[in-house]
Amino acid sequence: MSESMSQRGDIGVLPRPTGLADESYLEFLEAFRDVLLTKMFPAMAEAGHARMMAQGLPIDDDTLPLPVIQAAFAQAPVVPTWQRFMRSQQEMMWRRTRASFAQQGANQIARLDVAAGAGPGKLVIDPAFVVPDYARREIHLQPGGYTDDPIGGIVYHYGTKVFYQGGNDQDELHAELAEKAAAPADGKVTNVLDLGCSVGQGTIKLKGRFPQAEIWGLDVGAPMVRYAHARAASQGVPVNFIQALAEDMPFADGHFDLVFAYILFHELPIAIIPKVLAEVHRVLRPGGNFVIFEFPSAGRQLPPAFRFMIDYDSRDNCEPYSPDFVHSDFRAMLADAGFAVSDGPVSSNSFLQSIVATRK
Ligand SMILES: C[S@@+](CC[C@H](N)C(=O)[O-])C[C@H]1O[C@@H](n2cnc3c(N)ncnc32)[C@H](O)[C@@H]1O
Repeated sequence: MSESMSQRGDIGVLPRPTGLADESYLEFLEAFRDVLLTKMFPAMAEAGHARMMAQGLPIDDDTLPLPVIQAAFAQAPVVPTWQRFMRSQQEMMWRRTRASFAQQGANQIARLDVAAGAGPGKLVIDPAFVVPDYARREIHLQPGGYTDDPIGGIVYHYGTKVFYQGGNDQDELHAELAEKAAAPADGKVTNVLDLGCSVGQGTIKLKGRFPQAEIWGLDVGAPMVRYAHARAASQGVPVNFIQALAEDMPFADGHFDLVFAYILFHELPIAIIPKVLAEVHRVLRPGGNFVIFEFPSAGRQLPPAFRFMIDYDSRDNCEPYSPDFVHSDFRAMLADAGFAVSDGPVSSNSFLQSIVATRK
């Protein structure tokens, strides 16, 4: 029998908010977000593109300056309405999610403390670890971000449940990505790393994909890895978690056969990325694969509405580093770091790029 991650128990592998009223309120916000993304965003894109065409502006020119796109989009009333709704939905979601789990805050922390010493996997946290300032931003507006809220793990987990509009309640998305993680050509996979693992949903699924392998999840946020470890322990899954920096990893040269990173890089300052790539190259063995699912980067033609959306997201949803990433030649950076770069299998989220970078 697995331990529950929340006071009212779990639905499968998803914790329940503290009160039914919270759960209902957050269900409403999830449905609202779904409407904003699947109904209102297409209407906004159509209206914005129509304004551009009315001004004789091309909608297939990737070099068109963003302010030109923004000026045209701003003329369509649906655009600021959508922006306001998106921002408010996100603020309301975090406020209620945090308040709900904070009601069981002491119990939640006690649960994490007890689990910290439990197996089957290990949890490694060095008390002397210093979180760099760049990693302390409140990405996606989450209070305390990834690093500064002791109950940030469960808050992030439920917040992203809403963010994924119910499509990842049972870690379905992570299961899909882990299944698509390309093994090295020689098929040898004995050590796997989930880089920027957050609450370990992918880490657990990587164990399912490579049952014989030793699996590590690494993240800068102690609240993330503490919750990830407790969750894996509650499910009886033998995976390990460590609080560490992707640009300075406590692993030996050539230790891993496969490193996996899902939507990590757009959340790193651009100056940090070459350091992370050098470090991944160091910890991968020759022929090992770096499997990446990530935001688009330079070279991917994006419609103006998506460029508008990414810029909106960076400012109004606290993604301070994503614009630099989206405009960077990430594949060239991987090649410069010593990887042979190829396209990976596409995922059901067609917005993401999929890369397999093999260590030469
Ligand atoms: C968008 S989340 C990644 C999502 C996650 N891979 C998943 O499967 O859901 C980005 C994660 O990267 C972590 N992170 C940011 N900078 C980092 C760094 N320098 N080293 C390690 N982790 C980092 C954050 O704490 C956060 O948990």
